[in-house]
Amino acid sequence: MIHLHRRQLLTWGAALAAMPYAKAQSDTVKIGLILPMTGQQASTGRQIEAAVKLWQAQHGTKAGGKTVEVILKDDAAVPDTTRRLAQELVVNDKVAVLAGFGITPCAMATAPIATQSKTPMVVMAAATSAITQASPFIVRTSFTLPQATVGLADWAAKNGIKKAVSLVADYGPGFDAEKYFDSQFRLDGGQMLDKLRTPLRSPDFAPVLQKVRDLHPDALFVFLPSGQGAQFMKQFGERGLDKAGIRLIATGDVTDDDQLNDMGDVALGVITSHHYSAAHPSAANKQFVAAFEKANKFRPNFMAVGGYDGMRVIYTALNATKGKGGQALLDAMKGQLFESPRGPVLIDAQTRDIVQDIYIRKVERVNGQLWNVEFDTLKAVKDPGKTK
Ligand code: DHB
Repeated sequence: MIHLHRRQLLTWGAALAAMPYAKAQSDTVKIGLILPMTGQQASTGRQIEAAVKLWQAQHGTKAGGKTVEVILKDDAAVPDTTRRLAQELVVNDKVAVLAGFGITPCAMATAPIATQSKTPMVVMAAATSAITQASPFIVRTSFTLPQATVGLADWAAKNGIKKAVSLVADYGPGFDAEKYFDSQFRLDGGQMLDKLRTPLRSPDFAPVLQKVRDLHPDALFVFLPSGQGAQFMKQFGERGLDKAGIRLIATGDVTDDDQLNDMGDVALGVITSHHYSAAHPSAANKQFVAAFEKANKFRPNFMAVGGYDGMRVIYTALNATKGKGGQALLDAMKGQLFESPRGPVLIDAQTRDIVQDIYIRKVERVNGQLWNVEFDTLKAVKDPGKTK
């Protein structure tokens, strides 16, 4: 925890308030990109950094008549670090945009800085519904858990699943997934036998999986953040839950394209819902995946797409404002409509959140590799967590 004296806080406040004027003069426009490059969430950082580099390799480093400079900082997914780095980027580096944010607590910790300094903040990864309400300067290019979950609950109820147990990571996005699965599934006539949670840091899945085995639901619904899927899947198989006839259904975070191909046969047939699959069969996605794999020697996942589209939103807005920052830049981000590698995307002008198609997918082996193969599409899904 960082403790600032009152005088230091006032100094920060004055410096933050003066920012928009300083920003207008330079011929360089800076993006402060804060990502977990180390620690448990490092795959998120690696994916988004690669996508940001790909965007700039393909579209150049000029937007709105200025040179776009990306300053990458590693917060190791520690919220106090994110907040300190964001302050430094705004006050010292005079960034026009804050971007990245691998997990919800890091985005939440930075929201007050975006508000106070009037700096647009592009959330490329974190996915708790409430994030966009934490500051009027936040725009999101990732997804929300309610958005990704409701369609899967419907699918489950319509496909013979009557009794379910949920298992989620014990923090914001997990609470969203748990709540929206529960309410939709019960509305559709399903019954929840239990709701289980595992810690965000260093989870051990053995005790909860034993509990699921004993409860013997028709299906286990799971949300875990990117990076935990492979370990979970391994333990699911080792404990014989697949053989015991308990179906696994999940948000696409679990069958993450970053790890999916190494998960082996236990992943085959798992049904998930999500906004992005590397197997999405559009021309735009085929080009994106080919270019990404050529540059990086690994497959892009949904985090990469959040980063790539975040850069698009920033570049388009800079072109519209001729490089101006602050409120004008934020306004130019609102209402953008474009074709992403994931499919059509709208940045809702009212909520600043993303509206997108959600796909129901099944893990299949195609040409020797595991993929999330989409078989149903829910069109233009807004975040069900927004009341207005
Ligand atoms: C969040 C992080 C993830 O890695 C993910 O897959 C979904 C949500 C989050 O912290 O918001």
